[in-house]
Amino acid sequence: MTVNIQQLKQLKQHGRPIVVLTASDYAIAQLLDEAGVDIIMVGDSLAMVTLGYKTTLPVTLEEMLHHAKAVCRGVKRALVVCDLPFMSYQESPQQAMQTAGRVLKETGAQAVKLEGGYPAIAQTVSKLTAAGIPVMGHVGLTPQSVHQLGYRQQGKTLEASEKILQEAIALSDAGAFAIVLEHIPADLALQITQKLSIPTIGIGAGVNCDGQVLVTSDLLGLSERLPPFAKPYLNLRQIITQAVQDFSDDVQQRKFPETN
Ligand code: KIV
Repeated sequence: MTVNIQQLKQLKQHGRPIVVLTASDYAIAQLLDEAGVDIIMVGDSLAMVTLGYKTTLPVTLEEMLHHAKAVCRGVKRALVVCDLPFMSYQESPQQAMQTAGRVLKETGAQAVKLEGGYPAIAQTVSKLTAAGIPVMGHVGLTPQSVHQLGYRQQGKTLEASEKILQEAIALSDAGAFAIVLEHIPADLALQITQKLSIPTIGIGAGVNCDGQVLVTSDLLGLSERLPPFAKPYLNLRQIITQAVQDFSDDVQQRKFPETN
């Protein structure tokens, strides 16, 4: 059975944490899906971890569509959520509608994610959801605003935490089906999680969110640099380097191929 947005709400009600990972290609998407991940996110972090850009800002809609199509080809069960890239939705609800429409029509993803809170973004979310497009929100540290916020933890003062709480409420009222809480204090994430009926998905926001997301390259130890809240479960850089060195040695010593 495929995962849908109604089931995610039920998972929150039943207290079963939601598992979310990112993917940007067919093979990884297939493995994540087979491992039972609930949501596979085509995050615009692929700009950095897959395409080698310094921030998420340069990735284009065409590039996101290309990666989302590959991911969707590998997924049978999980819900696929695709990020709307920088400046593909901020201008107006009409622009967001066109962008999100292309994502759903052309890739097979079932939902979109966009960054930021109220009032302009919440209005956009409300238009998208009214048109039947499932939207995931994203507040706290929003990497598309890196030149304004840096990569620092957000919501540390009373005023800043109140603003993030109000943004999350506005997104939920606008019809978002879930919200990513990135790099905010755990007690603020708990407060938002308790206040909202929709699931919160944390990344660097403590254990009390309704689910957790990691960038898969960070989880696998493939990223060059890790954010402070990421946990590598594997050192794939080391494993790949070793395999490449072993192959290289075998070729140079004429040990590969083993048969003529
Ligand atoms: O771009 C991304 O991968 C994300 C997740 C980390 C939430 O936004």
